[in-house]
Amino acid sequence: MNVKKIEQLYEGKAKKVFSTEDPEVVIVDYKDDATAFDGMKKGTILGKGAINNQMTNFLMQQLEKAGVPTHFVEELSERETAVKRVTIVPLEVIIRNVSAGSFAKRYGVKEGIVFDEPTIEFSYKDDDLHDPLINDYHAVALHLATWEEIEVIKKYAFQVNDFLKKTLLECGVTLVDFKLEFGKTSDGTIVLADEISPDTCRFWDAKTGEKLDKDRFRRDLGNVEGAYQEMARRLMGK
Ligand code: TMP
Ligand code: ASP
Repeated sequence: MNVKKIEQLYEGKAKKVFSTEDPEVVIVDYKDDATAFDGMKKGTILGKGAINNQMTNFLMQQLEKAGVPTHFVEELSERETAVKRVTIVPLEVIIRNVSAGSFAKRYGVKEGIVFDEPTIEFSYKDDDLHDPLINDYHAVALHLATWEEIEVIKKYAFQVNDFLKKTLLECGVTLVDFKLEFGKTSDGTIVLADEISPDTCRFWDAKTGEKLDKDRFRRDLGNVEGAYQEMARRLMGK
């Protein structure tokens, strides 16, 4: 595919998005910039952009085969990927298998409680409001999505969890929780968008519990780059 960047449409905290000659295709360009706590904490994780790009593409291609439509079109370089142009549904979709992070804090429980079944929650993607927790009725009331779209999103999110949990366990990693974003293509089809990476998931070594994700940056645990590289090695052998 011969797609080239025309103009920058958007710059987020971890990625830039560019238009191409094809109105249905944009290029995402992953950065090494890292932020946490609503952008209050800023830093760089060397090599992160390349790892997150390649890991996302690796996983999305397999998810497509497993029946979850995604925005993936073609990997263009270490850091750049052509994806379908979508309108992002402004909901962060969070699946949890084990208590951690804001769940542990909100409900006053320790991290590491393994749930009998996965949970799902939504946050309203709005930086000014600090991405508040929202339920499906509120999302429909605010016209963020329709009931039909929410049902499809939930179905895909649990399918992603089943696939990811299994794939990671084979690499000796426990999938604690993760955040997904979905988009709508020009014909209204819901597809998995954004990324699946150590930035957006919690990965714990299945034996030792060692954190292999962005919590190393959020919590100043050290060896941040090493954790991203270790996840790339375990999942993709590189
Ligand atoms: P939380 O426990 O802080 O709510 O995070 C749940 C999951 O969502 C965790 O895997 C990290 C991911 N996440 C993001 O990808 N982006 C965010 O802005 C936040 C707060 C969490
Ligand atoms: N990337 C998010 C931010 O900067 C938060 C996070 O991943 O913890 O707000």
